This record gives sequence, C-alpha cells and structure tokens, in this order.
Amino acid sequence: MVKAIILAAGKGTRMKSELPKVLHTIFDKPLLGYVLDAVKNSNIVDYSYVIVGHKSELIKEYVEKEYSEAKTIIQEPQLGTGHAVSMARNDLENYEGEVIILCGDTPLIKSETIKSLVDFHKNNNSDITVMSAIFENPTNYGRIIRSKDNSLDAIIEEKDASLEQKQIKEINAGIYCLNWAKVKRVFSELKNNNAQGEYYLTDIIKWGKENNLNVNAYTLSDNNEIFGINSRKHLAEATKILHDEIIAQHLDNGVTIVSPETTFISPETEIGRDTIIYPNCYINGKNKIGSNCKIGPFAHLRGNVEIEEYVKIGNFVELKKAKVKSHTNICHLSYVGDAEVGENVNIGAGTITANYNPLTKIKSKTIIEDNVKIGSNSVLVAPVTIKEGANVGAVGVITKDVEPWSLAVTRSPLKVLEGWVKKQLKHD
Ligand code: UD1
Ligand code: CA
Repeated sequence: MVKAIILAAGKGTRMKSELPKVLHTIFDKPLLGYVLDAVKNSNIVDYSYVIVGHKSELIKEYVEKEYSEAKTIIQEPQLGTGHAVSMARNDLENYEGEVIILCGDTPLIKSETIKSLVDFHKNNNSDITVMSAIFENPTNYGRIIRSKDNSLDAIIEEKDASLEQKQIKEINAGIYCLNWAKVKRVFSELKNNNAQGEYYLTDIIKWGKENNLNVNAYTLSDNNEIFGINSRKHLAEATKILHDEIIAQHLDNGVTIVSPETTFISPETEIGRDTIIYPNCYINGKNKIGSNCKIGPFAHLRGNVEIEEYVKIGNFVELKKAKVKSHTNICHLSYVGDAEVGENVNIGAGTITANYNPLTKIKSKTIIEDNVKIGSNSVLVAPVTIKEGANVGAVGVITKDVEPWSLAVTRSPLKVLEGWVKKQLKHD
C-alpha cells in the first residue's frame, strides 16, 4: 500500500467564490471528493494527506465527515507546490514506501490511471515518476525537458520557459509517484529563485537527475483525466466531459437515452438493461434503477433511490430516498420521499408523501405495501403505512395506517344542487 498527498491549499481566485475551489461540486459532489474517491478506488492507497490553506476549516470538516482514511494538513502561508508537499514531512517521517501526489482540482482522474502510474513506477524501479501528457496547446503547463537520449532533465514552468521551451508539447500533469525514503530530503533543499518566487515541486526532477536517482515520465493517454478546474467555465466543461462519459457508458450497457443532451445522470447511478430514459430527466446522487423501467420525461431523482424492474416514473415526479418494487407506476406529478413502495402499486397523479414536519424538523417514513392503489391528489402524512391491497380514494388525506384490502376515503360526499346556476342568473 502507498500514501497519497493531495494539494488543495491554493486560493482558486478565478472561481470568484467564497467557497474554497475544491469544495465546488459536480453533481453535488465536491471536486476533492472525486480525487479522494479515485485514490480510494485504486485500492493501493491506505492513507491520504490533504494539504489545505484557504478556508481550511470547511475542507477539514468535509474530509473528516466523508473520509476516515484521510486527514488535512494546513499550509500557511502557501509558498508553492514543493512547500505544500513538505507539510506532510512530519506525518511521513518514518515512512519508507511510495507516495503519490495529486491535485485536488483535477476531478476527472481515474483510479485505474493512479494504479497504472504506481505499477509503472515499480516495474521501472523508478525513484521519481511524473505523469506527463501531450497537449496541442500546452500554454500554462510546466513543460517536460528531455535530454537527447530521451531521459528527463527537468520541468520548466511556463513563466520561466524560453520561447524555444514553450514550443514543447509534453507537459507536466501535476501527478507524481515518489520513493519517499530517497526523495524526502529534497524538500529541505528546494529554492524559490524562479519567476513566481515559489518553492516548486517540479524542481525535484532536476534534483533527482543530479542526485543519480531513477527519474521517469509516465505518459497519459486520455488528456481529459487531468483537466484542471480554475474557473466556473472549467467547472462547466469538466461537468460536460464527465456527463458525456456517463451517458456513453449507459448507452453501451443497453440503456436507451432518448435525449442525451437534456438528460443528467450522476456517476453513482446504476441503470439496468432495456430501461428507457426520456428527455429532461435529472438523476442525481446514488441510485439504482432496474431493467425495463421507463423514467421521465421530466423526472427528478434526488438520490438514495432504488427502483426494481418494470417500474414507470412519469413526468414531474420527484423521488428521494425511496425504494420502489417492480411493476409499480408513479406516472404524474408526484413527490415520493423517505418511502418504501411495494410491487404492483399504482400511485395516482398528484400524490404527495408529506415526509417533513417543519416545526420539529423531523422526517418520517411512508410505507406503501404491495398492490396498493392511491387515488389522485392524495397526501400521505408520514409516518404512515398503507397496508397490502388497500385503496385510498382520490383526494385522500391519510394521517393514520390503513388496514389491508380496505378503502380509505377522506373527502366529503359530493353534493349536487340542481338548477342552482339558473336560479342565480334569474336574480341578477
Ligand atoms: C502546477 C505545476 C505545473 C503543472 C500543473 C499541472 C508546479 C510548480 N507547477 O502548476 O508544472 O503543469 O500544476 O496542473 O508545481 N498548491 C498548494 N499550495 C501552494 C501552491 C499550490 O497546495 O502553495 C496546490 C493548488 O491548490 C493546486 C496545486 O497545488 O491544487 C497546483 O498548484 P497551481 O498553483 O495550480 O500550479 P500550476 O501553476 O497549475
Ligand atoms: Ca493549476
């Protein structure tokens, strides 16, 4: 197992935001969460150190809540990427294995790529491996400088590069694997005599070469993976890249998506074969949709939704934290939240599970058992159970459990006053 250091202390000025950059989200998950998940899912990292500075409390809170195998370390002031890595020196004082370094603002990095980098590093007996990529437009990136024999000489930052060096298309992706025992002493030797007056992590390449270490580059094949977020425009672009990938994967798996441009599906949603997603659906958070379902148009799944097979979720239906068993229909204008819905249930148009009491702030559960039919425009006031086979008449306001196979009706009887309208007209 190896350790990871994730750099996230930068201000992210160009986001023009109160929020630290790495807490900006794609599908409601912070950018840092994508990186930490990729690290976790590589299955080769047992602990991560996140270097934080700007608004560090918020990041610390997030990391502590979501990731037990990670901690934050404060870098104050922020004197550059090399200085940032050196903040983990105390924690890694007696550590002898490999350390990988990533950035908190490159959310599209894949766990397989992280694993390949470390495999490459080990297979080549490398001491320092930097991930590189070939960019047609390499502006703003550090350039990889190679010798005639193709070995690595240095990384030169854009701001320090000569015109000639700026022509180089091989760039530093900002992801590294280091033999910590051999490399850790460099962090007391870095100098900041460069255009930005910073302690550059990139200087370890030149240092490694001068100290006869084995320095290599691992070249990435999919440049999208190192797409870095510096602005809201980048955030929207990264969302689009991820979105396109997710849609392509579902199409590949046998899901019909009628209108990929208007359908949003979160990375943590599973969808079974032969399910059709109609236009304008927003499927967010963690969900599992079975096979042969019909979802939308205009459906909103807000997470923790589990749907079995042959279920219809129609237009303007919102689901949150809901389990829906097979052959059930929720076809029009309904909200079903904090609920369990059985098999072969029909939920009429405009049905609401009233799950939230705003006075007590308590959320309660609605259970709708197999074969239940709910009439249109009903409100099921949770906690409440509609037991097997029961029916609720239209416009039911259900505040207590309904026994199996019974009918619950709460509306007042229909009154028809014959000739009433004509009488009114004569008076006038
Ligand atoms: C860096 C690399 C560059 C590479 C590029 C890839 C250096 C000197 N340059 O440039 O070669 O092509 O990444 O994206 O490393 N950070 C800290 N503390 C600091 C400074 C930065 O934690 O004191 C963090 C930032 O939050 C960010 C990451 O380190 O997540 C990279 O810093 P940034 O300033 O964006 O470096 P680049 O100029 O992009
Ligand atoms: Ca950057």
